[in-house]
Amino acid sequence: MITKIGTDINAAIDLLMAEEIVAIPTETVYGLAANAMSEKAVLKIYAAKKRPQFNPLIIHVPDIASMQLYADTIPENCLLLARAFSPGPISFLLKKKACIPDLVTAGSDKVAIRIPSHPMTEAVLKKIDFPLAAPSANPFGYVSPVTAQHVLQGLNGKIPYILDGGNTSVGVESTIVSFTETGEVILERLGGISVELIEQALGQKINLQLQHAKPNTPGQLKSHYATTVPLYLGDINSLVKKYQGKRIAILSFENNYQHLPANFYFHLTDTGSLEEAAAKLFTTLRQLDEINIDLIIAEKVPDKEIGRAINDRLERAQFINKAI
Ligand code: TXA
Ligand code: MG
Repeated sequence: MITKIGTDINAAIDLLMAEEIVAIPTETVYGLAANAMSEKAVLKIYAAKKRPQFNPLIIHVPDIASMQLYADTIPENCLLLARAFSPGPISFLLKKKACIPDLVTAGSDKVAIRIPSHPMTEAVLKKIDFPLAAPSANPFGYVSPVTAQHVLQGLNGKIPYILDGGNTSVGVESTIVSFTETGEVILERLGGISVELIEQALGQKINLQLQHAKPNTPGQLKSHYATTVPLYLGDINSLVKKYQGKRIAILSFENNYQHLPANFYFHLTDTGSLEEAAAKLFTTLRQLDEINIDLIIAEKVPDKEIGRAINDRLERAQFINKAI
């Protein structure tokens, strides 16, 4: 199959209506989209990504009214958060209606729903009458794509079309929240909408411990977002000392550590902006993977706002299994 890249929204729509898969831009990362109501189309997503079928997919809809077509009940707090942040980088895990195929939810009675914010994808969603199931458009386990070129690198020949919407603006995946029986918010995945913003909208703190006590999202596997080159996370000074003699690239937040003996130096922001760091994270991880080094030494960013999502991704990218 030849993979085309373009900006033709109608071409993307025609393919999606024909039960094909298309990479689409969102504000977070590129998604690999298919008609969520068609098992045949959804199977193509799992196959192209080599994604295990126990890992469910988020469905993308144009507006809050459409969420109600696929979710059985929408708690008050969900409506409140949707009104505050959608379209935007937040997904809601809700009791599903029977019309959503089990293949999309991996057999769960809950479906994750999101209203993405990107003009091209919003235009696509408005013109079709089905939701789009879309995981990140990367081969399973690798760094998520934030440009059309990244999608091509991972899925060339496996999908017919990539809708090119430029660089994604947020750069990390959506925040996922679910709700208790009594409607309290549970954080399932850190992402583009920060805990601080959610708490501000709700007017109360959310229980972060719940996330760890009972992980509900099978995709939160430990080794994820991984570069091929091993990445070590910690104190840059001591890690550089520990691995001296190796070919090292440093990945830092704001300081560039040029005084340390390393082969390459990357940093995520010049201004201390966590938003800028998030937007650059995945592109930088991909650049690091393309240079001739033995290992990446990285540090965490300030653990607040969207920085928490960055740290979560860095932790998952860590090389855990083998000692170098
Ligand atoms: O920003 C995003 O959310 C991007 C863009 C494309 O929208 N999508 C994305 O999808 O990150 P994916 O598949 O890479 O990650 C979705 C996560 C996985 O961890 C999956 O296990 C979880 O959401 N998830 C999806 N549906 C679920 C369900 N019904 N129950 C529990 N977890 C679910
Ligand atoms: Mg993913």
